[in-house]
Formats: sequence, C-alpha cells, structure tokens
Amino acid sequence: MSVVKINVLTVPAEMRETLEKRFAARAGVVSSEDGFEWFELLRPTGGTDQYFVYTRWRSEEDFERWVNSKAFTQGHAQHAAGGPAARHSELWSFEVLQSEGPRARASTT
Ligand code: HEM
Repeated sequence: MSVVKINVLTVPAEMRETLEKRFAARAGVVSSEDGFEWFELLRPTGGTDQYFVYTRWRSEEDFERWVNSKAFTQGHAQHAAGGPAARHSELWSFEVLQSEGPRARASTT
C-alpha cells in the first residue's frame, strides 16, 4: 500500500518568493529514489499560508530510507545554507486507500 507524506510549510507572505525560488532550483534528486512515486509542490490560493510538499512512496520504508539518505540532504541544500523560509513545518502521513485518474475516453475518429 502506498503512503503519502506531506510536509506542510507555513510561509509568511514576505517569504513566499524565496521559498518558490528555492523549489524552482531544487536538486530534483528525489525522483531517482527507490520507491518514489510522486511529488507536487502545492501553492495555497485560498488566502491561507501553508504550502504542501506532497510526496507519495511505495511504502513507509522507502520514505524512511529517503529521509535518511544523502539525496534528502542534497534536496535541502538551499534550506540548509540559507536558513528557513518557512515559519513552521509539520509532516502529515497517510495511507492511500483509494486513488483514481481520468477515465480513458473513447476515440471519436
Ligand atoms: C524542517 C523541515 C523542512 C523544511 C523547512 C523544508 C523545506 C524545503 C525547501 C526550502 C526545499 C527547496 C530545496 C532546497 O532547499 O534546496 C525543499 C525541498 C524538498 N522537500 Fe523539504 N523541507 C523540510 C522537510 C521535508 C520533509 C520531511 C519532506 C517529506 C515529504 C520534504 C520534501 C521535500 C522534497 C520532495 C523536496 C524536493 C527535493 C528534490 O528536488 O530532490 N521536506 N524542502
């Protein structure tokens, strides 16, 4: 069963640009990790101040391995060097009980 790990970052308005620039220049090494399934950076649009760093993994063990890997350190180099852009961070954990993408549409041609 896949697991979803969301790092919830509370970002003050004046730090949003810094945070987004860091992610724009991120290492991109997470996607080469064994068991990695998905990543999304979600920017809040409803007047809230929490960005979601959404990741999905094949298993809890795969996620734990990445968190303790060199790839994780490498993926957080700017954060490590430049100090926090977020005021607070919190890890939310889930199991994927159901998931669905778009239905394949019948071709009209
Ligand atoms: C103190 C906690 C954390 C903070 C403040 C933080 C912040 C950041 C920042 C600013 C970046 C942009 C890249 C860089 O800094 O070089 C980044 C990258 C990333 N973060 Fe975090 N992070 C934290 C922990 C976590 C955790 C627990 C996860 C697990 C879901 C996570 C998932 C990611 C991913 C997937 C990337 C992209 C890495 C890559 O491209 O290889 N982060 N994070």
